[in-house]
Amino acid sequence: MVCDNIPLTSERFRLGYHIMAPSGWINDPNGFCYFKGYYHIFYQYHPYSAKWGPMHWGHARSKDLVHWENLPPALVPGDREDKDGCFSGSAIIKDEMMYLFYTGHHYYGDGGPEYFWQNQNLAYSHDGLHFQKYEGNPIIKAAPKDNTHHFRDPKVWQHEHAYYMILGSQNQQELGRAILYRSKDLKEWEYIGSMSDAKSIEEEGFMWECPDFFNLEGKDILLFSPQGIKASPKEHRNLYNLGYFVGKLDYSTGKYERGEFKELDKGFDFYATQTMETPDGRRIVFAWMAMWESNMPEQEDGWAGALTIPRELTLKGDHLYMNPVKELVALRQGAGDHHQQLVVKSRQVSPYDASLEVLLKISMYQQNLDFKLSLKDERGKNVVTLCYSHEENEFILRRNDRDDARFGNIQLVDKIDLQLFIDTSSLEIFINEGETVFSTRYYSENPLALWIESDQGVSIETEIYTLHDNVVSFP
Ligand code: FRU
Repeated sequence: MVCDNIPLTSERFRLGYHIMAPSGWINDPNGFCYFKGYYHIFYQYHPYSAKWGPMHWGHARSKDLVHWENLPPALVPGDREDKDGCFSGSAIIKDEMMYLFYTGHHYYGDGGPEYFWQNQNLAYSHDGLHFQKYEGNPIIKAAPKDNTHHFRDPKVWQHEHAYYMILGSQNQQELGRAILYRSKDLKEWEYIGSMSDAKSIEEEGFMWECPDFFNLEGKDILLFSPQGIKASPKEHRNLYNLGYFVGKLDYSTGKYERGEFKELDKGFDFYATQTMETPDGRRIVFAWMAMWESNMPEQEDGWAGALTIPRELTLKGDHLYMNPVKELVALRQGAGDHHQQLVVKSRQVSPYDASLEVLLKISMYQQNLDFKLSLKDERGKNVVTLCYSHEENEFILRRNDRDDARFGNIQLVDKIDLQLFIDTSSLEIFINEGETVFSTRYYSENPLALWIESDQGVSIETEIYTLHDNVVSFP
């Protein structure tokens, strides 16, 4: 039976320069790669409703990481090896071919949410437009014996003369872990074992979803989405978390020595990242800009979820910095509006506009300086606020539709740099060149403007750009 895609019934929360599906539900980014002149990104996609359902791989491509063209779904579930869903995975390019690795999802029994099993599959493409599932699927039939049924989200990379696949999984003690496989030809895979297991559920989770693995500055980074970490008053406050370890993988034993888990983004909406290395050697990441079980008012309008803007990851010491990719300057319309060194107690910084980039430099020469940024509607109602408190060098993010907050610290400096990307119903905030980042959705049907307030009076320099809001096209 062929169903029609769900129609969009309102544009009120649709984003202007972020990747979204034409309509329907999306979650994780998948298969991010560069192939024959285009960046390709795929995403977990359910076209027939604004809720999660049998997963397809939605697809978009771009020549410049700015203008995106949505294409027909690359993978549709329902074949024997992916009967109930084509779950998350990755891509690799070899001999002028694109290979997609994905998890086949299968329910059994009464189809209850925990009655499932998973296997790993391959698809390929010569042109990045037409995809063929591999006739020899599955490439990994079943989870290893020392695993539970949680066995998904393959990420594949090449190291020297072999290919490696890391999978998110759970051991028999119900601790999250990442397991490793090796292959010479992308089709036959040999199980090496667990790279690393969670120390405890409270500290590191019961399941690790969407693992990603890469090297920066000579260090091996495992970026992943653990479920089950216990929230503390200021950390790990999202339902599921997203963060990383820094360490070293011994390729001869498959063991990964690593440090502590650190969150990558401090906002409400950031999960299930997917990275790739660009032809010029940068590590770029996309995330799903949402969180499982969050309230998503756009579902009423026939869609749900979006990806973040693409961001470059860099490592300083053992800390991952995240910044908008440099290509995004092409989103700016015109030369922008620049203001220098205004001392203000309360001031409207931006116009009421849905698609903006705002750069703010705040001089901290005054001691004990606190300030607050807010997105307000024309009646003065705060929709999102970001407060800085000098006492702990801490930022606190709040939304008017949630009663909790998110926290992030910075190192002490004499100037705070903020770069904000505002897009109709999303806000991404990069602080001090990506040291601390917050990503969040917000919902208001009225136009919003950015304000700054400080009891002490604050010295600011601003640059404001209206951004192009028609850079994502749909079939
Ligand atoms: C993460 C995740 C993955 C899975 C996919 C299913 O958000 O749960 O582990 O492959 O979503 O859509």
